[in-house]
Amino acid sequence: MYKLNDRLKGFYCLRCGKKFDIDDYFTGCSFCSADSFPVSLAPYYKGSCKIKNNKKRMLRYGNFLPYLEFPSLGEGGTPLIEAHRLAEKYNLKSLYIKNEFQNPTGSHKDRMSPFIIARVLEINRKIISVASSGNAGVSLAAYSALAGLKCKVISQRNMNPIWKRAIETTGAEIIYTKTSQGRWDYMKEKVEKEDWYPATNYITPPIGSNPFGVEGYKTISYEIYEDLQGELPDWILIPTSRGGLLWGIYKGFKDLEDMKKIEKFPRLIAVEPIERIQRVLKGADYRENFPGDYALTPSIGGTTVTYQSIEAIKNSKGCAISVLQKKVYDNIKELSSSGLYLESSSATLIGSLKKLLKQGVISKNDCVVMIATSSGYKDFPKV
Ligand SMILES: Cc1ncc(COP(=O)(O)O)c(C=O)c1O
Ligand SMILES: [Zn+2]
Repeated sequence: MYKLNDRLKGFYCLRCGKKFDIDDYFTGCSFCSADSFPVSLAPYYKGSCKIKNNKKRMLRYGNFLPYLEFPSLGEGGTPLIEAHRLAEKYNLKSLYIKNEFQNPTGSHKDRMSPFIIARVLEINRKIISVASSGNAGVSLAAYSALAGLKCKVISQRNMNPIWKRAIETTGAEIIYTKTSQGRWDYMKEKVEKEDWYPATNYITPPIGSNPFGVEGYKTISYEIYEDLQGELPDWILIPTSRGGLLWGIYKGFKDLEDMKKIEKFPRLIAVEPIERIQRVLKGADYRENFPGDYALTPSIGGTTVTYQSIEAIKNSKGCAISVLQKKVYDNIKELSSSGLYLESSSATLIGSLKKLLKQGVISKNDCVVMIATSSGYKDFPKV
């Protein structure tokens, strides 16, 4: 049994600010959703705390997270690699790559899964469910296996066989639905009628993933802060789908700001396959559908935007950017020839950086961090 952090006092709505008791809010803020604005809730804490110096990797930060301890496969503590050659090529002061593919199942999702498992064990639920085309499914399947819990991954038939095998060998069950929307409809029914515990969204328009889990992403910001010894980057580029990672990184830096550890706030840039967030930032309603081609970058695919993504970008004075699908293989090659073989969705980081330099958004002499969310070893080649 894992113990809730005493500092955790409840949840707040990202949009209306209303406060809620500690509980599970699978569909976000009830007040905002009654007005047809689906929005996630996020935990808030009171009082100060310290890093646990006797622990390693993500466990060091337990005092800042919903659970003081949690089931661990050794997640977190990923390296911040200085990419000298790329920095020189693009005239940047410095360019760092936060290598999230060194997490136990090969993606940043391993920072989210432990808190979902800890929550499920605490409230004695039996089945974890996740709607995922890949990385979240692989991660939750592994952490469920670690804890001896049942995991149901809801996906589609065209799922990458590398992910399929990684999930099935843990003992998790994959359920296939005909459409992407069908995954959420199926999950909704199981959550409402059979008490499945949802790790990811199932409502339309969507909200972010389970808020206990999303908190884990804050540790990426803490680690960047520690590795750069307070010298924060000007920009952080983040491959984005539902924006859990983006929001978590924002919240981590907000913690550091509230603790008066930082004065400068890194500006967060969402890297997306099609113009979704970009259109919302130009005035479109975040609840709209934004169709487009994202076939080569399924991990950051989808036609929707979440409120949390917009909030993280606005609050950090950031922006969003996308690269054309036809550039994806060039992006993979360019990073790989610098030693970093990334999953297609992550490789678009380099195309985005180039575009932002060309647009004059990022300037020569800036310090940039890119979050490499997953490795190319997971990609099923299509050419
Ligand atoms: C490789 C990769 N990068 C980025 C993301 C985006 O994460 P989020 O949905 O938290 O925006 C995902 C998953 O959704 C992913 O699998
Ligand atoms: Zn609200």
